[in-house]
Amino acid sequence: MKKLSIADIAKHLHVSKTTVSFILNGRAQEKRIGREVVERVQKFVDEVGYKPNPLAKSLRTGKSNTIGLMVEDISNPFFASIARLIEDRAYKNGYKIIYCSTDNDTAKTRDLISMFRDRHVDGYIIAPPEGIEDDISSLVKAGMPVVLFDRHLPNVSTDFIEIDNLFSTYNATRHLIQQGYKKIAYITFANNQTHMLARLEGYHRALGESGYESFVKEIDFNQNDDLITAPIAAFLKKNKNLDAVFFGTNHVGACGLKAITELGIKVPTDLAVISFDDYDVFKLFSPPITAIAQPIEAIADSVITVLLNRLNTSSQHISSQSIILKTDLNIRRSSKTE
Ligand code: RIB
Repeated sequence: MKKLSIADIAKHLHVSKTTVSFILNGRAQEKRIGREVVERVQKFVDEVGYKPNPLAKSLRTGKSNTIGLMVEDISNPFFASIARLIEDRAYKNGYKIIYCSTDNDTAKTRDLISMFRDRHVDGYIIAPPEGIEDDISSLVKAGMPVVLFDRHLPNVSTDFIEIDNLFSTYNATRHLIQQGYKKIAYITFANNQTHMLARLEGYHRALGESGYESFVKEIDFNQNDDLITAPIAAFLKKNKNLDAVFFGTNHVGACGLKAITELGIKVPTDLAVISFDDYDVFKLFSPPITAIAQPIEAIADSVITVLLNRLNTSSQHISSQSIILKTDLNIRRSSKTE
């Protein structure tokens, strides 16, 4: 059955489209429309099960009350936990979320941005991949509220929320040095984004201060565990002289523990371990793994608060803001000298 429009309803009931629109948008009293007409319209609309077309409404009002939320991988527990908190806050403020994965792929992200533009989302929350600067800049220039998080785009002036990545890895590496470890490797994804470069810098800075050699293994970004675990195992087999290893993200860390278990390496006696991101598997591992915990609630709260402020403030002259949040180093037995 063809979807009924406001025009169809008006024609069927011999009233004007404007009258029907005012009634359906709850403005009958304000526009002094008689009770008999209001009841006739509402009765008919209930009978036929009319649903306003959200796209038509957004074209008319310029608002869709939806927010586009794009992260690397919607199933990744780090992003999923943040997304859930954002969704709750957005819903309480009258916004629904469209949530999707970029896979850190520029072309796919470009495709998703155009989907969001077609759906007239009112604002964007993005953990951007590399190479998407121009697309984000054009959204910002078009007056769209865009909040980046987890990493930012140095050449794009828009709001972003990030953690203090450099200090986090500097502090964790200092902890390993203070425990007496000297041959400390850093294993991470090959990535030139702000957060991953900052983490690598923190590791190098801590080692540099102590005059220790760095051992870095960069793995091509992918989401297939085997393609992460295998190169880590090969690296650990080749570098038996290491006494500690630092994994740059939760996913690398989880695969790193698989490699360590497969190789029969004892933690921390053969090899001390630290990982970025505190992840359930790190707490359950034997021994429990020292991890850098990101402030999930604070990240989500900052992201949605900044975006709602933009959405509720018509003036676009608020200068872009950046919020840098602190992490916690949860020290456990995997990094302590026996
Ligand atoms: O998989 C989640 C990890 O990658 C976290 O470290 C987060 O910062 C993201 O960049």
